[in-house]
Amino acid sequence: MAPDAAFETRILPFDEAALAEAAGLIARGLPVAVPTETVYGLAADATNGEAVARIYAAKGRPQFNPLIVHVSDLAAAEMIAHFDALARDLARRFWPGPLTLVLPKRPDAPIADLVTAGLPTVAIRAPAHPAMRALLAAAGRPLAAPSANASGRISPTHAEHVIASLGGRIPLILDNGATGHGLESTIVGLTERKARLLRPGPVTAEELGIELEPSSDRIEAPGQLASHYAPAKPLRLDAVDARPGEWLIGFGAIEGDATLSRAGKLVEAAACLFERLHEADAQAATSIAVAPIPPTGLGIAINDRLARAAAKEA
Ligand code: TXA
Ligand code: MG
Repeated sequence: MAPDAAFETRILPFDEAALAEAAGLIARGLPVAVPTETVYGLAADATNGEAVARIYAAKGRPQFNPLIVHVSDLAAAEMIAHFDALARDLARRFWPGPLTLVLPKRPDAPIADLVTAGLPTVAIRAPAHPAMRALLAAAGRPLAAPSANASGRISPTHAEHVIASLGGRIPLILDNGATGHGLESTIVGLTERKARLLRPGPVTAEELGIELEPSSDRIEAPGQLASHYAPAKPLRLDAVDARPGEWLIGFGAIEGDATLSRAGKLVEAAACLFERLHEADAQAATSIAVAPIPPTGLGIAINDRLARAAAKEA
C-alpha cells in the first residue's frame, strides 16, 4: 500500500446512487468519508485489516491510536464486545446516538486487530445519522471510522472541511451538509471496576446518570493526548478581548471577529466550534483567542476540546 496513494476525491450529495458508490468502495477495501450526527467520519470495513490501514494512511494517524467501530444496533455490537448489564442499559438508552462504549473485545470478534491497535478492548457505537446508518446497512458489516481529518487536526463538521484536510487522499465524500452535534461522541470506558468518562461529548455526565470514576490526569487512551484537537495556530483561552494579531472567537456578550453563539447558547457553540476554529485558522491573523465558555453541561466538552487545541506545541 502506498502511503500517499493519490485519489481524485469526489464529493457526492447523499442519495441512493452515492450510497451505492460508497458501499462499492467499502467492499473494495477503500475508506469513504460519511457524515455522522457528531462529525464526519472516515469509514472502512472493520473486518478488513488493509481497509483499516488505508484509514491510518489517509489520516497520517499514529498507528497506535485505536478506532471506533460503528454498528447498526446492539445485536451487532454484541458480536464484537462483551456487554454487562450496565453496558446494555447505556446502549438501550442512548443508541442510536453519540455515545461510544469501550468494552472488553470478544476473542472471536470479526474485526481486524488494527482497529483496536492490538488492545483487548474495543470502542463501539451505533450512530444515529441516516447517511451513516444507510452505509452500515448497505455494507452489511461493522465500519471502523475515526473523524475524517488529517491526524492532529480539527474534526470536520462539513464536507468542505474533509476535502480541505483529506482531499486527494480518499476517493469519496458523501455530502449531507453540516453535522448535528458538531462534537465527537461521548466515550465511556467500562473495562475497569468503575465506569470512566474517557471523553466528554454530546451525552453529558448528568444525562448518563451513572456513577463515574472522577477523571484522572493519567493518559487513558492515545486520543487523550493533549494536542489531539489542534488548529495550526496558537490558541489563547478565556480571552475577553483581542490582542494585536489575534482572531477572537466570541461567545455571548464577548462579540469577537466571529462568535460561537451570540445568544450564549452552548448547544449552538458546540455545533459550530470546529467550524469557527477552521475559519480562524484560515484568517491572516497569526493567532487565535477564544472567549470564556461556562464549564457546565456541554460547556465541559467544549472546554475540553479548546484546552487540547491550546495545548498544542508551536
Ligand atoms: O463521534 C465520534 O466518535 C466520531 C464519529 C466519526 O463516530 N469518531 C471519532 O473517532 O471521534 P476518533 O478516532 O477521532 O476518536 C476515537 C477515540 C480516540 O480518542 C481513541 O483513542 C479512543 O476513541 N479509543 C478507541 N478505541 C479505544 C479503546 N479500546 N480504549 C480507549 N480508547 C479508545
Ligand atoms: Mg479524531
